[in-house]
Amino acid sequence: MPLHKKNLTLDEFTIQQLRMFPNATGELSSLLRDIGLAAKRIYAEVSKAGLADILGSAGYKNIHAETVQQLDAFAQNQLRNVLRNGLSCAGIASEEMDGIEVFDDVMNNKSKYVVMFDPLDGSTNIDTNTAVGTIFGVYRRKTSIGSPCALEDFLQPGVNQVAAGYIIYGSSAMMVYATRRGVNGFTLDPAIGEFSLSHPDIHCPSETDTYSVNQGYWCQFEQGVQDFIVRCQQKGMSQRYAGSMVADVHRTLIKGGIFLYPAMHSKPGGKLRLMYECNPFAFIMEVAGGKAINGYERIVDIMPADLHQPCPVFMGSSLAVSELRLCLKNQYILSHA
Ligand code: AHG
Repeated sequence: MPLHKKNLTLDEFTIQQLRMFPNATGELSSLLRDIGLAAKRIYAEVSKAGLADILGSAGYKNIHAETVQQLDAFAQNQLRNVLRNGLSCAGIASEEMDGIEVFDDVMNNKSKYVVMFDPLDGSTNIDTNTAVGTIFGVYRRKTSIGSPCALEDFLQPGVNQVAAGYIIYGSSAMMVYATRRGVNGFTLDPAIGEFSLSHPDIHCPSETDTYSVNQGYWCQFEQGVQDFIVRCQQKGMSQRYAGSMVADVHRTLIKGGIFLYPAMHSKPGGKLRLMYECNPFAFIMEVAGGKAINGYERIVDIMPADLHQPCPVFMGSSLAVSELRLCLKNQYILSHA
């Protein structure tokens, strides 16, 4: 007899999903459970911030010349270790690593998946108790199973993701993941130490009265983006911005809205990373019925050239993203008339 959906733990839910596909190997389910385990360990540490001596810089910079926080390094190690020790991942790439790590041994080479992640997005906000999170995307490898994975397995467009998700470490910890079949959210139940299904079948509302952008950069935005923001203001929409993508996009996904991190004069390609931040969220948003573009095309259609390339981001409720696109198009037509 099927269990009541609302009571399902992440493990039970992924096993229930497996039952619908008799030929499935269970590899993706076990990969998601591995990530869930790392998330619980990361949340345990994040929730001690302020008590234990774990705040502040780790004393070195990452590939993006950003100062690595101690908790960034902790989260990176936790994720890396569960995936390295598990049987469902052939290799990883992370915002905190220069290149890929190939888990080159007999068991991991048998896996069909590689994982890309940002271990702790928004970590510069930790010192002030703002929600932060882990973001991940899972890809089916291109190279043959049985051999070590390679860079080409990672440099795939986001549309090829088999699953994508995030864990938000906020007032509670919540894991949200999408496969092509839907988006589901699991809240960590402290009584049993398990993620339990709390938000089944998430849909992003198509209409909204909220926009989310760092308006401090207003002078650096292109005209079309400025026009869109003015339209939001004229409609009396509210502005919400935590400065932590996981928090801002999570709110946008659940309540509707639009999240913008446009290109700027000082950052012509935008700030957020295509492979670790934009693609996973774009995949989730689209499965949930929303939209995600770089201004001109779907984010998930972009063919990556580099593991660490940035990407302008506009994502959320479908009507708002379409209106933004129109503002950019109108401005383009005007400037080329
Ligand atoms: P970091 O992980 O270095 O704290 O960066 C956070 C990211 C992302 O989560 C957020 O949306 C964005 O940077 C905020 O950038 P601004 O401070 O420029 O608005």
